[in-house]
Amino acid sequence: MRQLQAHPLYRGGGELDHVEPMEPGASPAAERLAAIRRRIAAACDRAGRDSAAVILVGASKTQPAAALAPFVAAGLSVLGENRVQEALAKQRELAADHRLPRVEWHLIGPLQTNKARHALDLFSCVHSLDRPAIAAALDREAARRDAPLNAFVEVNLGEEPSKHGFAPAGLAAALRPLRDLAYLRIVGLMAIPPYTDAAAARPWFRRLRELRDDLGSRPEWSGWPGWLSMGMSDDFEAAIEEGATHVRIGTALFGPRRTP
Ligand SMILES: Cc1ncc(COP(=O)(O)O)c(C=O)c1O
Repeated sequence: MRQLQAHPLYRGGGELDHVEPMEPGASPAAERLAAIRRRIAAACDRAGRDSAAVILVGASKTQPAAALAPFVAAGLSVLGENRVQEALAKQRELAADHRLPRVEWHLIGPLQTNKARHALDLFSCVHSLDRPAIAAALDREAARRDAPLNAFVEVNLGEEPSKHGFAPAGLAAALRPLRDLAYLRIVGLMAIPPYTDAAAARPWFRRLRELRDDLGSRPEWSGWPGWLSMGMSDDFEAAIEEGATHVRIGTALFGPRRTP
């Protein structure tokens, strides 16, 4: 965390709390959250990393605000939503409960260019910057508000037609123009690897880290945070061992998704 907090682009809110023993009578949500935090901490230990350097993003798609509230009350401070409309409704509902701490909202699903304005209204970070047109739209909107926005570039590691993102081949050249955008700040790379089984995900995480390292070695990217948003319920421990700074966890935290 020290490294993240020290970075001027980091807006805070995602700090991982120290893992405390649970108090007797803790809510089921608090227990689930603590269990995930323990697993994050153990993966960090194995990799010799500071567990405070990994931000837990609760992937809250399809979970109603009422189901999220106890997690927020227990200290979950970052929620990741896939859709603008769904996020808006939940933000309103959670904000109306003044007892709850403030949440930082991240967009983790694809965005249409005509929804850039809404994205700026709702999110402090976009993990799913998947094409140049959306980068331009977000930068324009952020400039209009004079409010910078953090974004991860999504990489389609397996070059799967069903997935979004920049191709790994030629990534540096494709991203070069994005580095010059004044208001959209590229903070790292994100990926959803091809799914086979959890063990098979590790080489893909390593690949994303190598792409990050390659970018970081180029003069135009010197000084960028180079964060890695990778790892979900089934594979977040491997992702952390391979360098994830942000893990997006849904079902392991909140249970099965509620609707399709
Ligand atoms: C982009 C993204 N990241 C993470 C997740 C969380 O997945 P899981 O429930 O496997 O943790 C989802 C789920 O919808 C997602 O769309």
